[in-house]
Amino acid sequence: MDSADLRAAVLGFDPEVPIESAWMPPSSWYVAPEVHALERRAVFARTWQPVARLDELSQPGDFASGCLAGEPWVVVRGRDGELRAFHNVCRHKGREVVQGRGRAEELVCGYHAWRYDLDGALRGAPRLAGVRDFDRDAMGLVPLRVEAWGRWVFVNGDPDAPPLAPRVAPLLASLEEGGWGELTYSRSVSWELACNWKVYVDNYLDGGYHIPHMHPTLDAQIDMESYRTETFEHFSVQTCAPAGAPDGRIGYDAGARIGPGAIYAWVYPNWMLNRYGPCLDTNHVVPLGPDRCRVDYEFWFRAADGEEARRFLEESVEQSALTQREDVAICESVQVGLGSSAYDRGRYAPRVEQGEHHFHRLLARDLRRAVGP
Ligand code: FES
Ligand SMILES: [Fe+2]
Repeated sequence: MDSADLRAAVLGFDPEVPIESAWMPPSSWYVAPEVHALERRAVFARTWQPVARLDELSQPGDFASGCLAGEPWVVVRGRDGELRAFHNVCRHKGREVVQGRGRAEELVCGYHAWRYDLDGALRGAPRLAGVRDFDRDAMGLVPLRVEAWGRWVFVNGDPDAPPLAPRVAPLLASLEEGGWGELTYSRSVSWELACNWKVYVDNYLDGGYHIPHMHPTLDAQIDMESYRTETFEHFSVQTCAPAGAPDGRIGYDAGARIGPGAIYAWVYPNWMLNRYGPCLDTNHVVPLGPDRCRVDYEFWFRAADGEEARRFLEESVEQSALTQREDVAICESVQVGLGSSAYDRGRYAPRVEQGEHHFHRLLARDLRRAVGP
C-alpha cells in the first residue's frame, strides 16, 4: 500500500454520513500494516492511555514500565512526590532503561549502567572519558505527559494534548454514584487475541447486538429491552437493567450480580470500564500489530470480608472469563473474515450500533487529520 492507497483507505469511511446510510470502514483498516503504522502515530501517540494504578506509585521511587503501540514508557514517583513519565529509552543505545515495576533510588540502564535521576536527568555514564561535545543536560530521558484520574495514571505522547480530566468528567460522576471510592483492586488478567484492536472495540460497542446470540449466561442476567447507548464527545456509555425474571440458564439471582443496572463505559480509543453490582472491571485494549492485540483486565470489588464475599468475587471473575472466551472466539473469526477477498465493508444496525459508529467517526477524524486534506 503506497501513500496514495493509504489516503484512499482513510477517506474510504465518511464520518459525515449518518448511521442510517453509512457504510462501515473498509477492511483495510483492520488488516493493512500501513493503517496500523498510521494509527500508532495518529491515535496511540496522541491519546491518554492508562498505564498503571495510583496505588502502585504511592512512594518516592515507585516506578512502572511497559510498552504501548511500540512506545516503551516508564512512570515514576519523584522524591518531591510528583508523578513523572518518560519514554523508557536509554539515550546511549536505546535499550529500555528499566523493566517491570518496582522501587528505585534512580533509574539505571542495565546495559552499560547509564544512571538517570527520578526526574529524568542523566546523573552519570561510566567510561565516557575522552568524549567531546557531550551535553549531559541534554541527554536526560525524554518526557511524556502524565495525569492521574480516578484510580489510575495515564500517559500521553502529545505535548499539546488537552488534559484528560475535563474530557471524562461526566463519566466519573456517573461511576461515583455507584460507590467508586470504596472499590478495592483485586487482580489483573491479560488475554492475547489474533485480531486487530478495533475488532475487539467494535464488538464491545455493538449495543448488545451479539449478546443474545453469543453470550447465553450474560443474556440471562440482563434485560435486553432496556439496553441503551449514549454517546458523548470523547466517550460512550451503554447501560442495561438486570433481568426481571429468573432464568434457567443461570443458577443465581441476576439482580445480585448486576445490581440496579450495568454501566459499560468506553473512552476513546481503547479503554472500557464495566460497573455492575459491587464490581468494576476495566479493559485496556493494547494493539500488538495489524492482526494482534492484548486486552488487560483489572478487577475491583467493594471491600467485603467473609466466605460469601470471596465466593461472589470468584464467580464474577469466572463469569467475566466465560464472556471473554466467547468474545475471543468471535473476534478471531471476524479477523479471518476481514481478510477475505469477498468482504470489504458492512452496514450498521442504526438503532443498535450507535456506539460503534461513534467510535469510527472519532477514529476517522484522527486518521484524516494525519493524512492531510
Ligand atoms: S544502552 Fe543504556 S547504558 Fe548503554
Ligand atoms: Fe461480547
